[in-house]
Amino acid sequence: MTIPMVDLKKQLVEIRVEIEEGIRSVLDNTQFILGPNVQALESETAAYLGVKHAIGVASGTDALHLALRAAGIREGDEVITSPFTFIATAEAISYLGARPVFVDIDPDTFNIDVNRIESAITAKTKALLPVHLFGQPADMKVIADIRQRHQLKLIEDCAQSFGADHDGRQTGSFGDFGCFSFFPSKNLGGFGDGGLITTDDDDLAAAVKVLRNHGSRERYCHSVIGYNSRLDELQAVILRVKLKHIERYNQLRRENAHYYSQLLDHPEIRTPVEKGGGKHVYHQYTIMVPDRDAVQKALQAAEIASAVYYPIPLHRQEVYGGSHSGVTLPVTEEAAKKVLSLPIFPELTREQIERICGVILKAL
Ligand SMILES: Cc1ncc(COP(=O)(O)O)c(C=O)c1O
Repeated sequence: MTIPMVDLKKQLVEIRVEIEEGIRSVLDNTQFILGPNVQALESETAAYLGVKHAIGVASGTDALHLALRAAGIREGDEVITSPFTFIATAEAISYLGARPVFVDIDPDTFNIDVNRIESAITAKTKALLPVHLFGQPADMKVIADIRQRHQLKLIEDCAQSFGADHDGRQTGSFGDFGCFSFFPSKNLGGFGDGGLITTDDDDLAAAVKVLRNHGSRERYCHSVIGYNSRLDELQAVILRVKLKHIERYNQLRRENAHYYSQLLDHPEIRTPVEKGGGKHVYHQYTIMVPDRDAVQKALQAAEIASAVYYPIPLHRQEVYGGSHSGVTLPVTEEAAKKVLSLPIFPELTREQIERICGVILKAL
């Protein structure tokens, strides 16, 4: 592909010296797990995100799993979430024997439709798990209000939204927990797997720290069955370098997205809608087109990458009952047929965007 979805090589060129210095310092120190860089990353991300605690874990999936467990989610509980997300969101609920309850999405933002949440609440509902999909904050004001009135736990899936804010507050600072992924292609990505859990609650932070380290508060004393889910020093040192640039990276993503939307102003194309006063950080730039396959084929012929996030909504996945799930979520199903994500990353050039848009407009 002459234009990939993400070009991590371009980003690395600029920060390579700093990254190599960091890696060398870890090699010299030889403390590879939960060392000084993890601690520093935890305080730096907590300060940036405006939360009291940030706790490094092994992946975004683990962040969700550990947060849900620390929030007390158990077998038989129901957790309300979005059907239009990566499987990990629902998997983490299922790991605990709880049931994901899928609520249809807002056609403008692809995030959970906040007007449909309350009718999905039952006596078994224990938590809300909104996803800030593609980097756009879900409507946290309404969600926080529903959570308050129904006395539910609130866990935010921020895997795609590092640096996004809603009403001046960062995603990951609204709920009992925020759960981030440092997968390499994320807005803040490492060179391997990694994740982060945020919380303002001292007890919940302590519980997560015990869970990530084999249920151990003190070495070789185990109070609960925990996990091996620790962030390593090499990832932390790399993430600390990238964290210094995250504001600029997200700003460049936003500028690129706005340039796309300007060029793709066409009656057959639905460009992303920024809604609700939040700052969208464009982890993905996702359009809707009626004949998605034709557009994707034209892009492929021009050696331009594109991707469908997500072709099968979670309530239609085999693991959640497939076509027999008995659940119909029309807005989600329509989106799954028409969405197309285009290359987006901070170093994408205007010329590349012009080329991509030229191919799309010609294909329509
Ligand atoms: C919305 C969402 N939730 C959770 C995850 C899981 O994160 P990870 O891949 O770090 O386990 C991802 C990432 O792929 C994601 O996009």
